[in-house]
Amino acid sequence: MKILVATEKPFAPVAVEGIKNVVEAAGHELALLEKGSKDDLKTAVADADGLIVRSDKVDKEVLDCAAKLKVVVRAGAGYDNIDLNEATAKGICVMNTPGQNSNAVAELVFGLLVMVYRNYYNGTSGSELKEKTIGIHAYGQVGRNVARIAKGFGMNVLAFDPFVSNEDMEAEGVTPVGSVEELYAKSDIVSLHIPANDSTRKSVVKGLIDKLPNKGVLINTARKEVIDEDSLMEALDVRRDVRYIADVKPDLADAMKEQFGDRVFFTPKKMGAQTSEANIKAGIAAAEQVVAYLKDGWNKFQVNK
Ligand code: 3PG
Repeated sequence: MKILVATEKPFAPVAVEGIKNVVEAAGHELALLEKGSKDDLKTAVADADGLIVRSDKVDKEVLDCAAKLKVVVRAGAGYDNIDLNEATAKGICVMNTPGQNSNAVAELVFGLLVMVYRNYYNGTSGSELKEKTIGIHAYGQVGRNVARIAKGFGMNVLAFDPFVSNEDMEAEGVTPVGSVEELYAKSDIVSLHIPANDSTRKSVVKGLIDKLPNKGVLINTARKEVIDEDSLMEALDVRRDVRYIADVKPDLADAMKEQFGDRVFFTPKKMGAQTSEANIKAGIAAAEQVVAYLKDGWNKFQVNK
């Protein structure tokens, strides 16, 4: 059978090699589409039995071209790029690879924070993360890794997640808070790790950002869609001390940069999971999952049940 790896942002070559080994050892054929257009994807997917993607859009248009497709694995955590309803309607199993790239994203949170706290290394005196309070907005796999690293910096760690028990957070040395408003009010830095879905889209608004203490920082390594960008701009306009840092370039990036200068920072491309380690872990997990599904219907991480 044919397994297509289609990534606009290519995996490290060593990860592609690992994927190829897994696919070929199971007797399948690997097809690789890197930096392709949507039309390229539509053509390449036509005879694919399995598909591995990253944040690449797998919408109805793509699925309509995939007559033989049985399984899609998103090598990573967020699956908001895949039309789950359409996949379900076509009997296609969709899985993610939870946890495989979460350390990479969490490390980038601190890379970005140190850069901003040290004034972009511009020669002026900055400040330290030690004893600052970081509030983790959603305590999933990335959030947990952020907490672990934050403790190494000597930070106080708070978290809000209605789906995680207080006991689980406390067992990891994290202080749970009772509401998202409380999280923002008590955190020098809020690190966003909520997925993009119908209940979270545009949920981070001025009313929340206003609650940040003096010189508060909002850092988003999750999805641009969870921010209400107009509302964020209003908040940044009023609160001249607050900064916004994102590994996900907002739609209003140019306007924000022009209006707020160094108080905002965006990576040019989503870089959180772009390490060879994360590529190897997520890529190989994805390949193993596709192979296992094609073999006997293994679907532990199915997200469209
Ligand atoms: C994820 O959801 O796994 C991360 O946001 C990484 O996305 P990427 O594979 O597009 O880098």
